[in-house]
Amino acid sequence: MSSTTKYVAAIDQGTTSSRCMIFSDDGAVVAVDQKEHEQIFPRPGWVEHDATEIWAKTQAVVAGALARAGLRADGLTALGITNQRETTLLWDRATGQPVHNAIVWQDTRTAQLCTELGGDIGQDRFRATTGLPLASYFSGPKVTWLLDNVPGVRERAERGELAFGTMDSWLIWNLTGGVEGGRHVTDVTNAGRTMLMDLRTLQWDPEILSAMRIPPSLLPEIRTSSEVYGEAVGQLGGVPVASALGDQQAAVFGQTCYGVGEAKNTYGTGSFLLLNTGERPVASQSGLLTTMGYQLAGEAPVYCLEGSIAITGALVQWFRDQLGIIGTAADIEPLAASVEDNGGAYIVPAFSGLFAPYWKSDARGVVTGLTRYVTKAHLARAVLEATSWQTREVVDAMYQDSGVEITTLKVDGGMTANNLLMQHQADVLDVPVIRPVIAETTCLGAAYAAGLATGVWSDLDELRTHWKRDAEWSPQMDTDTRDREFRHWRKAVERSFGWLE
Ligand code: G3P
Repeated sequence: MSSTTKYVAAIDQGTTSSRCMIFSDDGAVVAVDQKEHEQIFPRPGWVEHDATEIWAKTQAVVAGALARAGLRADGLTALGITNQRETTLLWDRATGQPVHNAIVWQDTRTAQLCTELGGDIGQDRFRATTGLPLASYFSGPKVTWLLDNVPGVRERAERGELAFGTMDSWLIWNLTGGVEGGRHVTDVTNAGRTMLMDLRTLQWDPEILSAMRIPPSLLPEIRTSSEVYGEAVGQLGGVPVASALGDQQAAVFGQTCYGVGEAKNTYGTGSFLLLNTGERPVASQSGLLTTMGYQLAGEAPVYCLEGSIAITGALVQWFRDQLGIIGTAADIEPLAASVEDNGGAYIVPAFSGLFAPYWKSDARGVVTGLTRYVTKAHLARAVLEATSWQTREVVDAMYQDSGVEITTLKVDGGMTANNLLMQHQADVLDVPVIRPVIAETTCLGAAYAAGLATGVWSDLDELRTHWKRDAEWSPQMDTDTRDREFRHWRKAVERSFGWLE
């Protein structure tokens, strides 16, 4: 390794795994390590993570990436953090112990609580302030649930003994010392997904806190996405922890979508399409979220419109783990490619209700169009097509809200390795789909933001020069087929509504 090269590490604490990547200052990947953690499903619709396991796996992947890169902590200029958003944890400030498993963003246990919070005004009660509809997805009501349902927790919170955080806060607190002076902070992109932050002031909103009965003493300090929050201790001793971004916002940053009208779609457990709308939050009329894009130190925040899809890659995992039809996620592509089409079958994976553009917590998954003709290969196709049709609905909503027509779609994330899916995505959107050389843009974005805060890179223009095209899929489907299949998909979606009474 050259002694003048600078290295930046990024931790991506995701829904199914934690990963550490190390990048050199030319934006290239030097090393990666990744470990999955347990998905805990205590009841239908509930999803939890063990935050202690996540912290242990995070430390293990940092050690693994350093070893693979042949680097020690003193060879890193900065560390950036990116994470699954909304997943909610309360822990004891004195012992560092979580009071309960983390409640994951996909968990629907707060659906009823959200209806109650909406009262006469309904789902949009806090939308003008937070950009978000009342849905079980977001953190605030999950905090209320923990305070109301875990014995003794409300009293401990009121005595100031507990801390709330999404995974960024949990990791930064532990990385910077934990019980011995760990920094309790979050960034605007993560805070913006709690439903507790005012999008314009970038502060916790006292009225919402009081409506959700959340003591302010629980909350981390809200900071920008790119600044030094503190120095790491332990194996990363001395490395500045210099960025935090929710994973989807990190992907916006890594895809260098810095201009108004630039968009990306990341295919992970779910899929999240974000469109940069600049320094002004744009209110959605079509079921999208108004959300933070990023904020650099000393600069105005940048906002996005977001179409959040809860289940895309997770449907492939379900097909593999719960149905056992395939042995590995990669097996789905040859199985789906062994037939010409979906045989009339559609799968709507409303496992966590439906997110954008519907926001229906009472939706549940359905399979439609079954006949004896349908084989597991047709179902494999329907699994993949569920991702591209859900994305199509979000792109349509994006156009209705912003008037911005997406003329090419920048994509990233694990599922972009699936050619059949990417081709179908281009077909149903009728626009080219483009993947960059580094498809792990989530880690890259966190590294970029950390490197900007510590002088590794000078500005956004320099970062833009790193973006390189790797693959492109052009639309091939004729209009009649596209329109007919989209009608079938929409019919299937309607069948998924109203299953919770
Ligand atoms: O909002 C949830 C999202 O941040 C999760 O992303 O990549 O872990 O599925 P991912």
